[in-house]
Amino acid sequence: MRKKITILGSTGSIGTQALEVINVLNNKFEVLSLSAGSNVELIKEQIKKFRPKYVSVKNKEDCEKLKNLFPDITILYGEEGLMTLAGLKEADMVLVAVSGKIGLKPTLEALKNKKDVALANKETLVMAGEIIMKTAKENNVKILPVDSEHSAIFQCLNNKKALRRLIITSSGGPFRTSSIEDMKSADISSVLNHPRWNMGRKITVDSATLMNKGLEVIEAHHLFDVDFDDIKVVVHPQSYVHSAVEYIDGSIIAQIGVPSMHIPIQYALTYPERFEGIESESFDFIKASKLEFYEPDYEKFPSLALAFDAGRRGGTYCVCMNAANEEAVLAFLSGKICFSDIYNITKSVYDSYISVENPSIEQILIEDDKIRKQTKELIELKYSLKGEKIR
Ligand SMILES: NC(=O)c1ccc[n+]([C@@H]2O[C@H](COP(=O)([O-])OP(=O)(O)OC[C@H]3O[C@@H](n4cnc5c(N)ncnc54)[C@H](OP(=O)(O)O)[C@@H]3O)[C@@H](O)[C@H]2O)c1
Repeated sequence: MRKKITILGSTGSIGTQALEVINVLNNKFEVLSLSAGSNVELIKEQIKKFRPKYVSVKNKEDCEKLKNLFPDITILYGEEGLMTLAGLKEADMVLVAVSGKIGLKPTLEALKNKKDVALANKETLVMAGEIIMKTAKENNVKILPVDSEHSAIFQCLNNKKALRRLIITSSGGPFRTSSIEDMKSADISSVLNHPRWNMGRKITVDSATLMNKGLEVIEAHHLFDVDFDDIKVVVHPQSYVHSAVEYIDGSIIAQIGVPSMHIPIQYALTYPERFEGIESESFDFIKASKLEFYEPDYEKFPSLALAFDAGRRGGTYCVCMNAANEEAVLAFLSGKICFSDIYNITKSVYDSYISVENPSIEQILIEDDKIRKQTKELIELKYSLKGEKIR
């Protein structure tokens, strides 16, 4: 029996790579449903190739266009479309590969409908990690990490009782060796020029500020139920060691391989089995030869320290940091603010924030909306006052 898969965000970096994996393992998987945002041309190609039964897009107009082209397929749109796809009875697994906060509700919907979830969308765990993990447990379903670092830890962690700490590696991003001064004026193209990974725009900007690593620390805390004091971030520019687990006897088990998202995506989809897939060549240890490790520079990359702080404080501090950061990243990508202001704006919103303890999903979403509004106002105020990028 082929595993029936729903992919939310099939037109993105993770979504397209997941379809490449499925294409190679097409005797193992059936694509039940796909969702896109606005990339109608790509979803059209994907529909023709994978013939899903259900599709969802962001807008009603695109939905109508697709309905005319594919009358035999159920085409939906908007949040309702994503929610319907996430809860489809026939699905065996839902891959959540949309970016940003829109991943939260469909992930919850999939778990409540007793679907295993392959989770790429880290913002979901950052916003509501406790609720998400509890819902998975109550419904007796699995959350399989897609992020390469978490996939690595998932593969290495076989004795939780004997765990000393998690070691999460980071390439250091495009500004690892730049000065703080140079980073201030970094333009969009240099920020998007990641040395190791080809990813969506939001995560690529987060990788340049190291906020992405901070989000991953919070994600790891929830996924593996590990205290923040027992999570260590290490900069490893070659990105061969995807992360590691250290045990109380001093043994370290690391997962190593070429920097390719195909491997963690495939493992999440095929777990617990392994198959020969796209990355069929053996890892060349001799060619790799040099593995370097450094302490992260928390002064140059204060977003990483902020994420540890938000995680340790709990409540809705992570919701605040995540929402303010996401809005600031969008403002940077639209040319409104400069690179260093992503952190400055996030920190300014965070510093004035009063957290809600033990929040429900409804409270999380209310707080998220409130913080986004406040962040946008702050950006607009500064931007309109100065009539130029904030410095
Ligand atoms: N890329 C990686 O290597 C990587 C690694 C680890 C974790 N992740 C995580 O995986 C998630 C996805 O990352 P990505 O790099 O694949 O992002 P991406 O390339 O930007 O793709 C995002 C996907 O979400 C869809 N989308 C965006 N807004 C939408 C909306 N309002 N309604 C419906 N769909 C919407 C996009 O559709 P359109 O393109 O059609 O508009 C696209 O399919 C993120 O949370 C990221 O942190 C990514």
